[in-house]
Amino acid sequence: MFMAENCLTLEKGSANETVERFYNRQGIENIQGFKDMFVTTTNNLKDFDEVKILTIWESEQSFKDWLQSDEFKEAHKNVRQHKEDSASPILQNSVSTYSIAYHYGKNA
Ligand code: HEM
Repeated sequence: MFMAENCLTLEKGSANETVERFYNRQGIENIQGFKDMFVTTTNNLKDFDEVKILTIWESEQSFKDWLQSDEFKEAHKNVRQHKEDSASPILQNSVSTYSIAYHYGKNA
């Protein structure tokens, strides 16, 4: 299994409105190999907010396929960063990937 994270650094106070943007699925659910998605808000930060989108995949290839897909393009067509549109609270983003070496789930 493989995990890809997009970490959004946000203007202070904008985490909740940003999280709500992730409530509706916009195509990722139809990508072969996609398994799960978590959206987290980081606790106890002082100067900015942070929202992470964690996606779980059967393989790195399925994640790469999604990045190249029309579904990815469509889901991001209204996304702007603060530097290109000052109304956007998204200050920066950073992608990290992980190999899931072990997983135990009580319910799955
Ligand atoms: C290039 C910088 C990126 C920014 C600023 C960004 C931000 C966003 C935002 C704000 C949304 C909500 C869409 C909306 O409000 O219309 C979204 C959708 C999404 N983003 Fe990104 N994103 C970026 C790249 C990525 C990458 C590389 C990943 C993978 C780790 C990712 C994972 C997701 C997922 C899973 C969704 C939901 C897609 C769906 O439901 O089909 N994003 N992104």
